[in-house]
Amino acid sequence: MTKKIAVLGGDGIGPDIVAEAIKVLNCLRDDYGFQFETEEALAGGIAYDKEGHPLPESTIKVCKAADAILLGAVGGPQYDALPRELRPESGLLGLRGTFELFANLRPAILYSELASASSLKPELVAGLDVMIVRELTGGIYFEQPKGSGKNKDGLREGFNTMRYNEQEVERIARVAFEIAQKRNKKLCSVDKANVLDVSQLWRDVVIEVSKDFPDVELSHMYVDNAAMQLVARPKQFDVIVTGNMFGDILSDIAAMLTGSIGMLPSASLASTGKGMYEPVHGSAPDIAGKGIANPLATILSVSMMLRYTFNEGELADRIEKAVGKVLANGKRSADIARQGEATIGTKAMGDAVVEALRS
Ligand code: IPM
Ligand code: MG
Repeated sequence: MTKKIAVLGGDGIGPDIVAEAIKVLNCLRDDYGFQFETEEALAGGIAYDKEGHPLPESTIKVCKAADAILLGAVGGPQYDALPRELRPESGLLGLRGTFELFANLRPAILYSELASASSLKPELVAGLDVMIVRELTGGIYFEQPKGSGKNKDGLREGFNTMRYNEQEVERIARVAFEIAQKRNKKLCSVDKANVLDVSQLWRDVVIEVSKDFPDVELSHMYVDNAAMQLVARPKQFDVIVTGNMFGDILSDIAAMLTGSIGMLPSASLASTGKGMYEPVHGSAPDIAGKGIANPLATILSVSMMLRYTFNEGELADRIEKAVGKVLANGKRSADIARQGEATIGTKAMGDAVVEALRS
């Protein structure tokens, strides 16, 4: 059956980088027989501009019919003053919630060619390969009650709720253990169990799940220490599993360790295998339309799509190898170039990956 991919270019550099990822998919069709159909839809600020909502019904329909969603990026300063539910970010959270994309996989890999781009010393990060598994549809981002208003003393207040039930913890823990099994078999669960009840439950459930994965070495870390350890000795980690907000923060730290957020893909998976794939970086409005954005994170997101939704591990490997080759050949977009190094634009980078795939 033909695979269906919903394509949401979004805002800023989103449409440009997604176009390069589609080039790569087209190459897989022409040269490797990977059959797929795409359908485009609006999401984020552009959807608000055109349809009055960052996640219009028409987009939900297109995504519902698809096996996988490819998303560029959403957001821009012109939307910052909108009510929260109309901001581009709400479109993103809406996609995550609507399709129950609870498992967010954020690999932080340091390409040896780019080791000097890290803010840490090369010996601390050389060979870094950490996978952060972030719970994405629960916890403080989604739970009720939340809101703002006046309290009984007439003071303005705001509140959110950090809540997890055992099923939510169990399912994300299972995903993380399974991923660890295919890697170096080390899983670190990050929480704040010294203070938060919700974290104690998290820890208890992760320990229970670990009984089914005796081959994986489980450890636990408080989130403040995890932040410190990530910048002190990042290579001690293999897979990290954590809740929604801790994962948001730690995955930005991990991304920065690689020094090239323009290289990092992500997958957000439902239990059905349906997934949304997007670069970790944002919409970079400052360089939108300039043709200089790095499309590699989006191209690598296609690789994750092939691996996790379409079970095409071999094609995924091909894309990753092609990206490695392009870097080894010295091709650099502006974000990953060293001072004085020659750079190429978005389209040329996409073309270079296609060429590497063909050869
Ligand atoms: C991310 C982003 C989002 C999040 C924002 C844009 C809502 O920071 O994907 O990490 O907080 O989850
Ligand atoms: Mg974030």
